Amino acid sequence: MRKKIVAGNWKMNTTVPQGVELAKEVVALSKDVKDCLLVVAPPFTHLAPVAEALKGSKVALAAQNCADHTSGAYTGEVAVDMIDSIGCTYCILGHSERRQYYGETDEKLVVKVKLALEKNIKPILCVGENLEEREAGKHFDVVTSQIKNVLYTLTAEEMKNIVVAYEPVWAIGTGKTATAEQAQEIHAAIRKCLADKFGAQVAEDTTILYGGSCKPSNAKELFAQKDIDGGLIGGAALKAADFIAIAQSY
Ligand code: PGA
Repeated sequence: MRKKIVAGNWKMNTTVPQGVELAKEVVALSKDVKDCLLVVAPPFTHLAPVAEALKGSKVALAAQNCADHTSGAYTGEVAVDMIDSIGCTYCILGHSERRQYYGETDEKLVVKVKLALEKNIKPILCVGENLEEREAGKHFDVVTSQIKNVLYTLTAEEMKNIVVAYEPVWAIGTGKTATAEQAQEIHAAIRKCLADKFGAQVAEDTTILYGGSCKPSNAKELFAQKDIDGGLIGGAALKAADFIAIAQSY
């Protein structure tokens, strides 16, 4: 049985006190969530106090990125050891904003994914096409090649610790959600792509999240699809009540 996950990507939002407050609200409301793992991914500066706020709860902590080196002279970077030492168990990697604005390539992601796995941090690997690629009918090719470039370098054993997030770039922060059918067909293609390399069981057990303007009003329909195992939530994760309502959509 694959895990259902609703993860909140706070991106570059909230001050530290606001983030701690948000984490506390999520913890308080998380008691009403059944059968779904909640994860929050605050900015790096918030990780220590948010970890403290999550103590004793079932809400897991994620970083939004990590460095492609283990330590040393890389000013401004944060290593996987550091996020591990603060209590992160997940790390978002390859978010389209990182790919688009910070030159994150599949080659770099291979390194980051491996470094994370060595520390038992589960990568949430984001993939997704942009509007131009969707309009040109290339979305299946774009997404499956992102999957192959990064995940095909892993063993089946390593693959068991990977979460995939399909996030069509044109749906992120735009208010435009992929329809449940559009999302389902890509999720099914991702699962097939994983099955081709790692076998049906590993593919069946992989959690594949949908992200892109997911909110309480559309989560139910999205999560009802057979290959959608939860969501990676941006804007709606900044309000604890909305975040929890999304998780309750199962
Ligand atoms: P959004 O962002 O929910 O604000 O569209 C999702 C994401 O980028 O993870």
